[in-house]
Amino acid sequence: MKPLIFPLHAADALMADLFTQGSFDIGEIEHRRFPDGESYIRLVSPVDDRAVIILCTLNRPDERVMALLLAADAAREHGAHQVGLIAPYLAYMRQDQAFLEGEAVSAQTFGAMLSRHFDWLVTLEPHLHRIRRLSEVFSIPARAAEATLPIGDWVATNVERPFLIGPDSESAPWIERIATHIGVPFAVMTKQRLSDRKVRITGKLAGLQQDMTPVIVDDIVSSGGTMSEIIAQTAHATNRPAIYVAVHALADQLPERVTHSQAFDRLVSCTSVPHPSNAIDISGPLLAEADDLIARTSARHRL
Ligand code: R5P
Repeated sequence: MKPLIFPLHAADALMADLFTQGSFDIGEIEHRRFPDGESYIRLVSPVDDRAVIILCTLNRPDERVMALLLAADAAREHGAHQVGLIAPYLAYMRQDQAFLEGEAVSAQTFGAMLSRHFDWLVTLEPHLHRIRRLSEVFSIPARAAEATLPIGDWVATNVERPFLIGPDSESAPWIERIATHIGVPFAVMTKQRLSDRKVRITGKLAGLQQDMTPVIVDDIVSSGGTMSEIIAQTAHATNRPAIYVAVHALADQLPERVTHSQAFDRLVSCTSVPHPSNAIDISGPLLAEADDLIARTSARHRL
C-alpha cells in the first residue's frame, strides 16, 4: 500500500507538485479551532497499518505545533505503523545556543519535542550554523533535503548572465554548489548581525560586471534586513537590478528600502512556505528523502 499523506499546512504550489507525482495516497484531515482557540484534529481517512506522513511547514510555528502533535498522536493511536513528518521549513533552528545568561536554546527543545511524536523527519535546507547536523537536535532519523539543484536550474533557465552572491559565510558551501552546477561566477560576503532586524555586510563583489544580473541566494528572508543591506551594495557594482532567491520566504512584507530600490528586481522563493514569491519546485528532493526513510522504517517494522 502507498504511504498516506495528510496535508496540514503547506504552499498550494508544493501540494500541487507533490500530488502530481502520485507516489502516495492523500488523506483527508479535519482541522478546526474550538471557540476558545484550542485545536481540533480528526484524521478522516483510515490509517490502520499505514505508513502515515504529516505534511506541515513550520513557519509561524506557535500557531501550528499543537495541531501537528495532535495529528501525529492520532495517527499512531489509530493504528499507523509509522508516522513521519515532512516539514519543508523547520522552525526554531536559529536560536541554537544561549547567547545571554538565562536564554532558552529553542532548537534543542523543539527537536526533542518533535522526536517524541514522530518516527522520522524530512525538511529542506534547515538553518544549520553552530548546530552542524540535525542529529545534534533530533533523536529520530532526520534528513535535510537540498534546494541547491532546483535553485540552480531555476537560475539557469530564468536569468541572463547571473552572478551569484552569498550574503554570509554560512551560505558559502551551497553558493559554491549552485555555481558549480550551472557554471557561473559567485562571491560570498561576510555578515555581522547587529539586532533582530539589522545586519552589517562587508566584502567585495569581485567579478560582478555591468552586464551581469546579481542573484543573491539566501536560506531565509525574515525581517528583510539582510536583503536590504546586500541589495544596496549591488547597486554600487552594476546597473542591473538584483534578483533575490530565498529558500524560505518568511517575510509578510519586505522593507520599503528594498521594494522602493531601483537595485531590486524581485524576490523568488522555493515552495517550502506559502508566499507570493513561490516559484521553485522542491517536491522532488523532499519526496526522495521521505521515500528512503519510509522504506527503512518499514524494514525495521518487519523485523
Ligand atoms: C542568517 O544567518 C540567514 O542566513 C539569513 O540571512 C537570515 O536569517 C535572514 O534574516 P533577515 O531577513 O531577518 O535578515
